[in-house]
Amino acid sequence: MENQNHFPYDFIDRVIISQADIETRVTALGERITHDYQDSEKLLLLGLLRGSVVFLTDLMRKIHRPITMDFMSVSSYSKSESTGFVRIDSDHKTNIRGWDVILIDDIVDSGYTIRTVRKLLLDREPKSLKTCALLDKPDRHKVDVKIDYLGFSIPDYFVVGYGLDYDEKGRNLPYIASIDLKKQKE
Ligand code: IMP
Ligand code: MG
Repeated sequence: MENQNHFPYDFIDRVIISQADIETRVTALGERITHDYQDSEKLLLLGLLRGSVVFLTDLMRKIHRPITMDFMSVSSYSKSESTGFVRIDSDHKTNIRGWDVILIDDIVDSGYTIRTVRKLLLDREPKSLKTCALLDKPDRHKVDVKIDYLGFSIPDYFVVGYGLDYDEKGRNLPYIASIDLKKQKE
């Protein structure tokens, strides 16, 4: 395990997915998407801001097909737990009608975000719609969600790094780490 004194944030407990393991998995996902969309001329990667940015920008360079990217910003109305109410803060710009869309998020927790956005996008009549997430916490699901392209399943930890944040901190870490709030100094 890495020396904890070397972590740039006090609240980090330990690395649960290394930079090398992320790279390997993202490359494999990119290869699968390249294969699955080899006949698609209109492939749109639609990321949810801000958590999916690091994952999406790495993944897109592993997809050897023409692609377009766009983003939406959504937030769940809650203090600590998801309530199921998902608010659209900023919508995508592309008219997705007729596009093959892959909706990309950093992590699936309760499942409300992916489920709600997916339903909304289906009304806009894309040619196809699939979902992709770097991480999934299956023990936390409150609704059924299908993740077509998944990086890793993890236990019920709160994690940061590779785009994911704790209170806007930790997005720049190149690995996924679990947090321990007792370690946080003010
Ligand atoms: P859901 O709607 O409950 O599935 O929530 C998904 C969203 O919650 C993700 O897009 C993240 O922004 C956030 N989230 C859930 N778990 C974590 C975590 O462990 N670390 C950082 N963000 C998380
Ligand atoms: Mg998010």
